[in-house]
Amino acid sequence: MSIRFDNRVAIVTGAGNGLGRSHALELARRGAKVVVNDLGAAVDGKGGATSAADTVVAEIRQAGGTAVANYDSVADAKGAANIIQTAVDAFGTVDVLINNAGILRDKSFAKMELADFEQVIQVHLMGSVYCTKAAWPIMQAKNYGRIVMTTSASGIFGNFGQSNYGAAKTGVVGLMNVLRQEGAKNGIMVNTVAPIAATRMTEALFPPKILPYLGPHFVTTAAVWLASEACTLSGEIISAGAGYYAKAVMVEAEGVMFDPEKPVSLEQFDAAYGRISDLSKATPFPSSLAEVEKVFKLTNKL
Ligand code: NAI
Repeated sequence: MSIRFDNRVAIVTGAGNGLGRSHALELARRGAKVVVNDLGAAVDGKGGATSAADTVVAEIRQAGGTAVANYDSVADAKGAANIIQTAVDAFGTVDVLINNAGILRDKSFAKMELADFEQVIQVHLMGSVYCTKAAWPIMQAKNYGRIVMTTSASGIFGNFGQSNYGAAKTGVVGLMNVLRQEGAKNGIMVNTVAPIAATRMTEALFPPKILPYLGPHFVTTAAVWLASEACTLSGEIISAGAGYYAKAVMVEAEGVMFDPEKPVSLEQFDAAYGRISDLSKATPFPSSLAEVEKVFKLTNKL
């Protein structure tokens, strides 16, 4: 094992089940001291039990690893701060944060209660914000940090019945896109994994025949690599599952430049739409500034 986490402190949120558990076990196997956070909720986020986190801590210790449990909710700013504090109190610092905790409350948008929309945003997006906010100054001060967000194909591409979840999962990508820029000078790499795995969250959604091939360990390989010193990239989105790994990106078409001194009529726009939407020469941008600079340059007015 050349990719190691000796003397590194890692926090995995929602690590009492599924993917988070798998990430925590692998981090510990590779030498990390791990905070196993989980409030022990059901898939819809209701209820709570300390046993989820405790069981994973026991598994890690049984295998000779080092771990402590934390039962706070990421969806609460004070709770999230306490998750980070748990790492500081037990192990002195935090090097790795995997924002993994999540819930589902699926319904078509027409039928969705706003409370279910808000709670899903609160756990996935604000939970990632709260935990990252508390870990950030520690990582800045030590000029080292690895933060992994957890998105979903639903957040990248959209999925019927998941307006709340899709919005939250796109939100964490937006958070990453900014933090990768703000964290760079302090060696804080912020990346995102987009899992496909058989867990209690998905086992009723995927065809039963495929479930044996969707072990969480496939996702863990990508997530833990992104959390390691081996990863010196920031802003990557990696789709991972069933042995498949692929980088996902947002791109923009080459586009069409009209005369910036004249208004563009709806008819001109309509006639040009084929070229406006032609993705054959699409490119990603490293920042919003780079995209805006492209537009300014095309005007020939600077
Ligand atoms: P899971 O339901 O097995 O595990 C989620 C864990 O998060 C649970 O142990 C739960 O108690 C915990 N949790 C929920 N709310 C929490 C809170 N407020 N604070 C702390 N812990 C909380 O689900 P799974 O599949 O392991 O999901 C992990 C992450 O991966 C989630 O963010 C999910 O949205 C994402 N994901 C999973 C996919 C999959 O195929 N399994 C697909 C795409 C994304």
